[in-house]
Amino acid sequence: MKKLSLDKILQSQGFGSRKGCRDLIEDGDVSIDGVVITKWKTEFVPQGLVFQVFDETWEYREKVYLVLNKPSGYECSRKPTHHPAVLTLFPQNMEWRDVQTVGRLDHDTTGLLLLSDDGAFIHAQSSPKRHQPKTYIATTAEAVTDKLVADLLAGVQLIDENAPIAALVANKVAENQIEMILEQGKYHQVKRMLAAAGNHCSALSRVQIGGLKLADLALAEGEWRYLTADELLLLQRD
Ligand code: URA
Repeated sequence: MKKLSLDKILQSQGFGSRKGCRDLIEDGDVSIDGVVITKWKTEFVPQGLVFQVFDETWEYREKVYLVLNKPSGYECSRKPTHHPAVLTLFPQNMEWRDVQTVGRLDHDTTGLLLLSDDGAFIHAQSSPKRHQPKTYIATTAEAVTDKLVADLLAGVQLIDENAPIAALVANKVAENQIEMILEQGKYHQVKRMLAAAGNHCSALSRVQIGGLKLADLALAEGEWRYLTADELLLLQRD
């Protein structure tokens, strides 16, 4: 991989404008292998580069693939209206890198949320054509009945949809809890499907996307991390 000047590397990693990155370097805030680098023209091979900014260690990443265990009370929008944005749970350079959520969860939905600055990945994961199955656990106001399960599997008519929409899987897991696997990703889909079937969703968590399970990630609510190469494979669908 071609060498790049340190200011360009820092800019690509979300540490500010070119000028801002040059200032950081000239102020002595950036070091590599324990050596403070004060000349922004110094060149490095970006691949695998480990560097410190204000004593925090970073590894160069061409693109980032992130997973968050989303807590309730955060909006997926970049311009939130009533609650803080999920991006406020990440270091600021992620916003500068133009990290976006892969699809959206409602502000009161918890669980698995993917984020990335790789447009092709975001598009591929959120495209309805991909039919990526997503598993939700919904808490319901009324008890989960056999009829509810049967109706969700047969398909329910949502306003604004031409045809009934069915869950791939619907399983009663407790008196007031149902597991639903959906592959469409429509707006408020779980809540609208439960309402259309005569119940009401009072709490919702996404617990799996493709083969990626929240329970295997050991992430507390509000915690995030980079997805590993193996975890990314669990999201592939071919
Ligand atoms: N379905 C919903 O109703 N809300 C979500 O956040 C996700 C799926």
